[in-house]
Amino acid sequence: MKTKIIDGKSIGEDIRSNLSARVQSLMDQGHRPPSLSVVLVGDDPASQVYVNHKEQACGKVGIISRSYRLPASTSEADVLAVVKDLNADPDVDGILVQLPLPAHMNKFTIINAIDPLKDVDGLTPYNQGLLAWNLPGHRPCTPAGILRLIRSRETDLTGKRAVVVGRSILVGLPVATLLTHAGATVTTVHSKTTHPQSIAKEAEILVVAAGVPGLVDQDWVKEGSIVIDVGIHRTPNGLVGDVQFDQVFETVTAITPVPGGVGPMTIAMLLSNCLDAYGHRARTSA
Ligand code: GUN
Repeated sequence: MKTKIIDGKSIGEDIRSNLSARVQSLMDQGHRPPSLSVVLVGDDPASQVYVNHKEQACGKVGIISRSYRLPASTSEADVLAVVKDLNADPDVDGILVQLPLPAHMNKFTIINAIDPLKDVDGLTPYNQGLLAWNLPGHRPCTPAGILRLIRSRETDLTGKRAVVVGRSILVGLPVATLLTHAGATVTTVHSKTTHPQSIAKEAEILVVAAGVPGLVDQDWVKEGSIVIDVGIHRTPNGLVGDVQFDQVFETVTAITPVPGGVGPMTIAMLLSNCLDAYGHRARTSA
């Protein structure tokens, strides 16, 4: 029998070892390795940690990673120039601009400058449009990872009642779209929703990406549901999510832990998108 805990670390490791074998086979055939370029502007401590993890993960599966660490005072024009160079560089398969960006720049302008074929974060309007249309394209990493976690417990989502807490372009909106395309009946609740608990309590699948530590307690959770906690917050008592894990544990059928749930899947899906971008570019270049 499966445990209640959805082990993102182990599912992510399986995906990574599969990717590693694919990269090794490319090397054995004499091809160049895939490559990811990460742009980090400023010194947000959490972003530094995430970017370090992404670089280490690339190294482990044989993807070359290059990082561009720019001071917070960098102008928007200079960041755009870096993105433009990476777009034009034939050795770069994937580009990721780590968010959040400093307040003086417009994240939409910068993301929109990334070549959609190299947009391994799936955040450009082009890739989000392909997602909305349910056509092939790079899917945002965290939402794609969340779907894998849900499907590890429930393969057929047709007709399932799903509630997503949060509406960000990184997680809430795309995860709601992916669940809709998978056949679920999806409601999004957010900071302007009145009585979000009563809506969430109807959910057979509850995805919480609110960015509020411990927001979700047993009043939000339906008996027998699957709960995915996207939050990760550093507190004096250690890392916590958006869900009060101990409070809801008895009620749920399955739940992701923090850490070790969604986080490792984001990285695994990023590596997977990189390899897809590499393959697509190899097939379409002369
Ligand atoms: N900041 C937090 N998560 C992410 C992510 O998945 N992609 C980017 N670009 N920035 C992030």
